[in-house]
Amino acid sequence: MTPRLRVGVIGAGRWSASAHLPGFHRTPLAETVVLCDLDRSLAERQASAFAIPEVATDYRALLDRSDLDVIDVVTRGDHQDLVFEVLEAGKHCLVEKPVCHDYRDVQRAHRLAESKGLKTKVGLTFRYAPAVMYAFDLIRQGFIGDPFVFNGYEQNSQWLDPDNPMDKRIHKTKPVGEAPWGTDLSPEGITVSSLEGYGAPTIDIGLEMVGADLVEVVGLLANLVPYRRRTNLDVERERINIDDADLFMARAANGAIYSMQSSYVTVGNYPGIEARVYGSAGAIKVRLVEEFGVIQTIHTATAAAVEFVQREIPARYFPPGFRDDDPWSAAFYGNLVHNFCEEILAGGAENQGNFAQSARVQEIINAVALSHRERRWVGLPLGEAPAPQTSPF
Ligand SMILES: NC(=O)c1ccc[n+]([C@@H]2O[C@H](COP(=O)([O-])OP(=O)(O)OC[C@H]3O[C@@H](n4cnc5c(N)ncnc54)[C@H](O)[C@@H]3O)[C@@H](O)[C@H]2O)c1
Repeated sequence: MTPRLRVGVIGAGRWSASAHLPGFHRTPLAETVVLCDLDRSLAERQASAFAIPEVATDYRALLDRSDLDVIDVVTRGDHQDLVFEVLEAGKHCLVEKPVCHDYRDVQRAHRLAESKGLKTKVGLTFRYAPAVMYAFDLIRQGFIGDPFVFNGYEQNSQWLDPDNPMDKRIHKTKPVGEAPWGTDLSPEGITVSSLEGYGAPTIDIGLEMVGADLVEVVGLLANLVPYRRRTNLDVERERINIDDADLFMARAANGAIYSMQSSYVTVGNYPGIEARVYGSAGAIKVRLVEEFGVIQTIHTATAAAVEFVQREIPARYFPPGFRDDDPWSAAFYGNLVHNFCEEILAGGAENQGNFAQSARVQEIINAVALSHRERRWVGLPLGEAPAPQTSPF
């Protein structure tokens, strides 16, 4: 019988219930033993929905247990302290992005994991979309030839409505003792948000598609919906200077050129991700936009046949337990969770989308923010440049 990893999940909120818990529930390689949330009744509700035998409200109780192999951090807010505690406790760690806001801290976390022989995985969800996995394989097989151009887009209207609160947590009472963010109203003082949200996993796809590090970036952050409710408990809108749209372009070490646009105030459905790569021999366009029941498409063209055609995604790219009516969250995250379990159980060096990859992505985010702030091209690697202010929620 295949061994099953024993998993503890910290966070029973919306994303946990729609992506993480279905993933761990369906993979034959793991069993979720305990679900922890500050809100016990929420933990109990989700534990019962996913047949999880135990609940907890204090995550430390999970870290102290010797019978858990993997800890999954799916809380909202800063993940950094939790991540270091999980690794110090000797557990393999899955965490939602961002691991840390400063790429140097992500690198530190990666080194700690490596020193303890632990595997890590970050919620870079979209590299696990079956259409993207298929595209990566086509690229590895030489379909596009030498990569020339990458264009990445994250476009959805999640926060187009100014009454949708900036703080995405659901508060029952007003948070106390937290410094508000987005209060520096100067153009340079804008707080990073969208770029670190679904910008991050789209940057990740681009790095894989061009197959090289970026060596310089120039970018722009904008706040297009300037007044908005801060929390679900606020009635009035206030001025919050936050990146709800951004653009950057870059040059890769292999000469490819790279562009990205991310925004959650652009009309279109969730998740709204598009990745296009053009090379010397072929081109691939992947679209992850839920429209009329379709969650993903892949189109390809070659130098000899330049009209793009849609490809069917082979069954091998779909996760265990996939159903045709799965929402994109369960379909894509099912692959992420299953792949993490496979990597841990295989015990080899393979560990895609880990903290090292997340640090590469975070360094680009930090560099684009610096470019915006100082209105100049920024070279990579960044070195000791100061990290920009980012929104914790
Ligand atoms: N990768 C993706 O595609 C994707 C998509 C959506 C959300 N996310 C990320 O997932 C994370 C969670 O988002 P969400 O929408 O589920 O948030 P949420 O507010 O709905 O849920 C978070 C839960 O964590 C619990 N929690 C917070 N701190 C805790 C602690 N110390 N111990 C135990 N429980 C704690 C809260 O009580 C809450 O129930 C965020 O980091 C978000 O950015 C990622």
